[in-house]
Amino acid sequence: TRIEKAGYKHFMMKEIAEQPTVVGDVLEAYLDKNGGVAMDLPGVDFTTIRRISIVACGTAYYAGLVAKHWFENYARLPVDIDVASEFRYREPPIPEVTLAIYVSQSGETADTLAALRYCAGKVDKIVSLVNVPESSIARESDIALPIHAGVEVSVASTKAFTCMLTTFAVMVLKAASERGHLTEDELAVKIADLHKLPGLMSHAISIEGELDKAARKVALAHDVLFLGRGQMFPLALEGALKLKEISYLHAEGYASGELKHGPIALVDRDTPTVVLAPHDGLFDKTVSNMQEVMARGGRVLLISDARAIATAGGGVWRTITMPDAPEMIQPILYAVPAQLLAYHAAIAKGTDVDQPRNLAKSVTVE
Ligand code: G6P
Repeated sequence: TRIEKAGYKHFMMKEIAEQPTVVGDVLEAYLDKNGGVAMDLPGVDFTTIRRISIVACGTAYYAGLVAKHWFENYARLPVDIDVASEFRYREPPIPEVTLAIYVSQSGETADTLAALRYCAGKVDKIVSLVNVPESSIARESDIALPIHAGVEVSVASTKAFTCMLTTFAVMVLKAASERGHLTEDELAVKIADLHKLPGLMSHAISIEGELDKAARKVALAHDVLFLGRGQMFPLALEGALKLKEISYLHAEGYASGELKHGPIALVDRDTPTVVLAPHDGLFDKTVSNMQEVMARGGRVLLISDARAIATAGGGVWRTITMPDAPEMIQPILYAVPAQLLAYHAAIAKGTDVDQPRNLAKSVTVE
């Protein structure tokens, strides 16, 4: 079947808009009607696994970085993560009882496939998260979990990212409860939180007009900084990657606490700083990072919830108010404004959104 733009100007916008539906499909596939986890991982025993090794490239790698945070935080399982091109040539030693997880939209990325082949026979099980179930990576894994995003046409990945994250979220909850780090009641709350995603993502898509306005300003810059902390740090990386890929603006994602170790030297009036920071236990620290930027004449675009925006204090250049969301699902939800900001910056610059220069959807050569 031919995939059409369904009234949208670009596949990218169509795919952004599809996220509430496809994320709902992931939940339907991996959760059961009685509020439990229904993800089948034959032969995977989270109580005996000592380590997880995640390998991927590009946006899939950033999904893995969020998953590392979740596995360590909720399931108390240590995670090593690497980009495939580094992993495969470093030939790392693999400790006993390691579960390997390969993440790939296409399932054909050459470096990711080569890294998987290196692991075969050395790890206990290879699980892959893939969007193309008949792909090489899916075929060569012990267990292939489809991410249910549907065909993704736009070179810049959007819905595959949030579907990878949602699939990972269910796996983390399964691991956490099997390892005794979540009671039945706590698990039920976390699952109920996941079910809030489609509605919250629709809400985030509905504030597109605000992101368009901010993006028109951001598009006038040459350099843009993205900051995030903890589980939002990978979102800063993903926000910067999306902007680079389709608007050709130079953007860098940094962990908020690293600002003073270099990137603050870039800050001036012409270098906007996008802060992705919902209210959490570390929000005060993020506020002081923003103040460091503002004290140097830098302009801050704060993407956060109403409570955090109210406590952030004056001096912020622009704000985008996101709906309140339970902590674990915040990285999934905040992908939406990061995508919309890049999309509208690209429109403002007049670039080819769906087919950006020099990039390929699937990198099947080294
Ligand atoms: C290319 C695409 C990216 C993608 C990466 C990994 O660089 O342009 O959007 O994240 O490959 O692709 P995969 O299919 O393995 O997820």
